[in-house]
Amino acid sequence: MIPALALARETIGDGAPVFGSIDRENAEPVHPVGAGSRLPAHIVDNTTDKSLLSIRGVTLEYETPERIIRATHRIDLDVFPAERFVLLGPSGCGKSTLLKAVAGFIRPREGEILLDKKRITHPGPDRIVVFQEFDQLPPWKTVRQNIVFPLLASKTATRGQANERAAYFIDKVGLSGFADAYPHQLSGGMKQRVAIARALAMQPRILLMDEPFAALDALTRRKMQKDLIALWEEVRFTLLFVTHSIEEALVVGNRIAILSPHPGRVRAELNSHQWNLGSGGEEFQSAARRIENYLFENGATENSAA
Ligand SMILES: Nc1ncnc2c1ncn2[C@@H]1O[C@H](COP(=O)(O)OP(=O)(O)OP(=O)(O)O)[C@@H](O)[C@H]1O
Ligand SMILES: [Mg+2]
Repeated sequence: MIPALALARETIGDGAPVFGSIDRENAEPVHPVGAGSRLPAHIVDNTTDKSLLSIRGVTLEYETPERIIRATHRIDLDVFPAERFVLLGPSGCGKSTLLKAVAGFIRPREGEILLDKKRITHPGPDRIVVFQEFDQLPPWKTVRQNIVFPLLASKTATRGQANERAAYFIDKVGLSGFADAYPHQLSGGMKQRVAIARALAMQPRILLMDEPFAALDALTRRKMQKDLIALWEEVRFTLLFVTHSIEEALVVGNRIAILSPHPGRVRAELNSHQWNLGSGGEEFQSAARRIENYLFENGATENSAA
């Protein structure tokens, strides 16, 4: 079991607020439910009991010829294995910048980011990003080739393993009939599925998603959210997911960090494991409203909850 740590600053929607600890007893199980037995032997089970990603006092800045732009200010966050952790905040609050720093593309001005207790200094195959854009896939490669290539190029797998992983994850994202199709023959949603399969096939320690469904129509977006959760139920990967949609944060995440407007600071952390795509009704709406308050109105101070 993951020990009860000082993670959530507040729990919404399921009773009294919990300060200083997360209610892991009532949280979703973090150990795979039969996932290990279904995974091919060389596919690593990412689930362990230790903290995976630690973001410690991280300030991120861009330097332009005219000025320095501070994107985030002293962010502190922890992500645990098999969590679906959401960064939620208004446009320009530094969500993508923070994700890029976790990916290793940007170095913190202050603080540090640790993965498995090792400081992140550069990009690596243990952190794969899925972006919003549909053009993430080399168009001259088929779906299968798109997934196999990075596995071979990074020497993550032998050709046999790469083919096996590709087949496994193509099936998991529901594209078995399209393994030999080219990206231009796929819809936007299907391309995002390939990007997800390609990322998961690399068996990253953490999957980073930057508004992956934002460019999809509402129905496809909902279906993709549902399928992402179903995939997580089966594979139990660790997810750091960026969105500015409150509803998406509630249904995709088991925990949400709410960031303030530019420069982003952690305004609150919330448990959200109790919500899913079937959620609606008054309780869900009131949770959404409270998040909206944090985002736009009340002056909640850092690390506090109303
Ligand atoms: N390459 C860059 N050079 C200079 N400033 C940048 C650069 N990229 C982002 N910024 C600035 O950093 C701040 C944070 O940007 P970021 O893209 O991380 O926000 P975001 O939360 O992802 O926004 P959105 O929801 O619109 O995607 C913004 O003020 C933005 O203008
Ligand atoms: Mg962004």
